[in-house]
Amino acid sequence: MQEIETGVAGRVVVITGAGQGIGRTVARQFAAKGAIAVIADRDGGNGRRVAGEIAAAGGRALAFDTDVTSEDSLASMVEGTVAAEGRIDVLINNAGIYSTLGRRPFDEIPLEEWDHVIRVNVTGSFLAARAVLPAMRQAGAGRIINISSSTVPLGLPLLSHYITSKTAVIGLTRALAHELGGDDITVNAVLPGLTETEVENPAVDEARRQSLVARQCVGRKQVPDDLVGVLLFLASPSSAFMTGQSLLVDGGTAHL
Ligand SMILES: NC(=O)c1ccc[n+]([C@@H]2O[C@H](COP(=O)([O-])OP(=O)(O)OC[C@H]3O[C@@H](n4cnc5c(N)ncnc54)[C@H](O)[C@@H]3O)[C@@H](O)[C@H]2O)c1
Repeated sequence: MQEIETGVAGRVVVITGAGQGIGRTVARQFAAKGAIAVIADRDGGNGRRVAGEIAAAGGRALAFDTDVTSEDSLASMVEGTVAAEGRIDVLINNAGIYSTLGRRPFDEIPLEEWDHVIRVNVTGSFLAARAVLPAMRQAGAGRIINISSSTVPLGLPLLSHYITSKTAVIGLTRALAHELGGDDITVNAVLPGLTETEVENPAVDEARRQSLVARQCVGRKQVPDDLVGVLLFLASPSSAFMTGQSLLVDGGTAHL
């Protein structure tokens, strides 16, 4: 009988956009399980603050000012991580334009806003995967986890750029899974439902939150900790034979 490794202790885990919100919780929880959390956020001050929180709790973290839309910025984050830790095992493509996004009819979305959402949410995930690839190949295995959204199966109105971007992330996941399986690099997507974080989202009022909770099987608001179990599994050696998949973690509102 083969021994199955289940944890993330000692694994080097890059989490983009981990300076706040879901990514911040994920970084802290992974570090609490012994992973080295690499916080790659465009807002370097927030990233360093999260790294400080992790260090204060006895964990290990690095923080880089990283813009996922810039190949140079990603390259320096990868270089710095490999110089410090010698490897990259996991990439969680979490950075996204989300909490700052207003809801509007598709024919009123300025083209610059559309382009920005696609650039960060889709191109950013594509570029970050390319940036970590040599280090994962060097390590002999890897895990790429792309954060999509339950808005894809729900198909809600007034977020056409966001939903289009998060649908593309699922396509990217499937395509990369086929290209990288031979390198023992798995690529999966996680689709969270509406998740309450410490960051106010002005586009979602309390009535809307309550109506979404009413549609869930598990009748309470979703919090970032609800995503951690699935992410730990997908980041660990025990998910080695699972790739190209999309997992909804939304309290049971939507179905794929
Ligand atoms: N909160 C939710 O309800 C929810 C639901 C489904 C999916 N998601 C997805 O989960 C992820 C995190 O969501 P959140 O609620 O924490 O969002 P958030 O808006 O609070 O945080 C996003 C983070 O990404 C960073 N970021 C933005 N552009 C960047 C760039 N170009 N390079 C690097 N970092 C950049 C921001 O600085 C910020 O720290 C996003 O991809 C979002 O689309 C969120």
